Amino acid sequence: HSQPLDSTSVLAWYDRHARDLPWRVSPADRRQGIRPDPYRVWLSEVMLQQTTVAAVKAYFVRFTTLWPSVQDLAATPLDNVLREWAGLGYYARARNLHACARAVVAEHGGVFPDSAAGLQNLPGIGAYTSAAIAAICFDERVAVLDGNLDRVLARYYALDVPVREAKDALRGALQLAVPERAGDFAQAMMDLGATICAPRAAMCLVCPLHDGCKAREQGEPTRYPVKPVK
Ligand code: ADE
Repeated sequence: HSQPLDSTSVLAWYDRHARDLPWRVSPADRRQGIRPDPYRVWLSEVMLQQTTVAAVKAYFVRFTTLWPSVQDLAATPLDNVLREWAGLGYYARARNLHACARAVVAEHGGVFPDSAAGLQNLPGIGAYTSAAIAAICFDERVAVLDGNLDRVLARYYALDVPVREAKDALRGALQLAVPERAGDFAQAMMDLGATICAPRAAMCLVCPLHDGCKAREQGEPTRYPVKPVK
C-alpha cells in the first residue's frame, strides 16, 4: 500500500464540513481547548454500534437529559434504562451499558479510563469502541476502523481482495496516517464514509482523498470493496 492517506486534506475538509452531531465537539471548539465528555462519547458510540446516526440522535438527547453523567446512569435501575432503550434494538447493548456505567463508578471513581487499553476492560467496550473513545476524547493516535472505513480504504487502495482478507494491511495503512488531531481525524473519516464515499455512490469530485485514490483513478470506485466469493 504505497500512498499514505493525506490526513492534512482530510482534516481541512472536516474543518469545513464536519457534521453537527449532539455528541460531537466541533473542530473549532476543540481548537479552543474544549474537550468531549467521555461519558457522552461512550454513550453515542454504544448507541451507534448497530444503529444509524439519524435514529440515534433523539435517543442520545433523551438519555443525556435524563442522565447527564455516568453517576446518574449508574444510579438508575436497569429496567428504566431498558425502557428508554426500547426501539434501538439489541438489548444486550443496554445491559452492557448499564453494567459499564456501574463499573466506571465502582471501580474507576466515576472517571472513564483515558486510553484504549484501559477502556477495553469495561463491559461492552471492544476494540472498535475503545479506539473510538480514546481517539475522540484523548487524541490517542489509534486507528479507528469500522465498516465505513473499510470501504473508504478498500477504494483508496483499490483493494483486490475482500476486506476481511486484508484487515491487518488496512489497519496498518490507517494507523500510519493518524495525525496529532486523532479525534478529529477519526470523526472526519466517519463523515467521509457516510457522506462522500457512500456505499452506492462516491462523490469523488469533492473528496479530500481524490488525488491518491486508486479506485477513483480507475474510474469505477463503487467496484470496491470486492465481495467475498461464496
Ligand atoms: N458512527 C460511529 N461513531 C460515529 C461518530 N462519532 N460520528 C459519526 N458517526 C459515527
